[in-house]
Amino acid sequence: YRTLSIALLGAGSVGGQVASLLLQHGDELAARAGARLTLAGIAVRDLDAPRPERIPRELLTTDARELILGADIVIELMGGIEPAREYILLALGSGADVITGNKALLANHGQELFDLAEQVGAQLYYEAAVGGAIPIIRPLRDSLAGDRVERILGIVNGTTNFVLDRMDSAGEDFATALAAARRLGYAEADPSGDIEGYDAAQKAAILASLAFHTRVPVEAVYREGIAGITLDDVESARKAGYVVKLLAICERLLDPATGMEGVSARVYPALVSREHPLAAVRGANNAVFVEAEAAGNLMFYGAGAGEWRRPRPCSATSSPPPAGTSQADPASPSRRRRTCPCSTSAAS
Ligand code: HSE
Repeated sequence: YRTLSIALLGAGSVGGQVASLLLQHGDELAARAGARLTLAGIAVRDLDAPRPERIPRELLTTDARELILGADIVIELMGGIEPAREYILLALGSGADVITGNKALLANHGQELFDLAEQVGAQLYYEAAVGGAIPIIRPLRDSLAGDRVERILGIVNGTTNFVLDRMDSAGEDFATALAAARRLGYAEADPSGDIEGYDAAQKAAILASLAFHTRVPVEAVYREGIAGITLDDVESARKAGYVVKLLAICERLLDPATGMEGVSARVYPALVSREHPLAAVRGANNAVFVEAEAAGNLMFYGAGAGEWRRPRPCSATSSPPPAGTSQADPASPSRRRRTCPCSTSAAS
């Protein structure tokens, strides 16, 4: 095998898991990739910060630039805009392919990064930026490239789905449910990014840009969070046959005045019929429900936040499908149906 040298930027919960995968399954990955993948180093801000034992200390460095310049592949999992942006530009400029899970960076500076990647002939992958481990970027970009996506309804923030689910299923108040989400490691360092819908808006911008082959800046995404949702709201929704979900909705819009087609992307707490497949998305799971002209309704479902978990078998017929699967909408009577079978509308 030839050797490909990998620079990992960031050793947080996702970076740490990626390091473990590379170190534990190196031989298997080499056979599959046709190249030996060598983790050359992990760039961190503080060498002495507490981290799990599985991350070898001898791989840590604070010199990200030197690490990047010696790498064939750079995996950026440090988050935030700077210095992540600078490092990715450096990596692409030096001819390395880049993998990033940085939704904030892509939603705000994606064009600059994609332009440079194209200019130098490097690859920029970002599957983990939306929906955690759920494969959704490549299906939208490649598999559905010949179809026409009409609408996307996404539960793309695990923290808010967890909080709303605990309010709905356990009658917990907002603060108690949020404290649990933070303990379980779903929330961002500053959970207002989750609660106020900024995280979901960044993901909506990425999904809308891909699905509609255009550039939807994050500033163009209407955003409303869940901080104003009360137990009373959740209870009233339940009595009426709905569940409150923070949805990212991306759809084509036709301006009747001009006949011109545009795109709408918005994030807000919505009433979802309990009959809709998205209502079955519990806890910190994510799901992206895609309505496409030829493919019909598809749902991509799985763990969207937090550390890795081994899949557990579904215990009841009402459970959603196992993590990591993507399947046609089981509730849809017709695969060619063009609109969602159940209505969604703004909550409260
Ligand atoms: N804080 C994010 C969430 C993590 O709750 O979905 C994954 O992007």
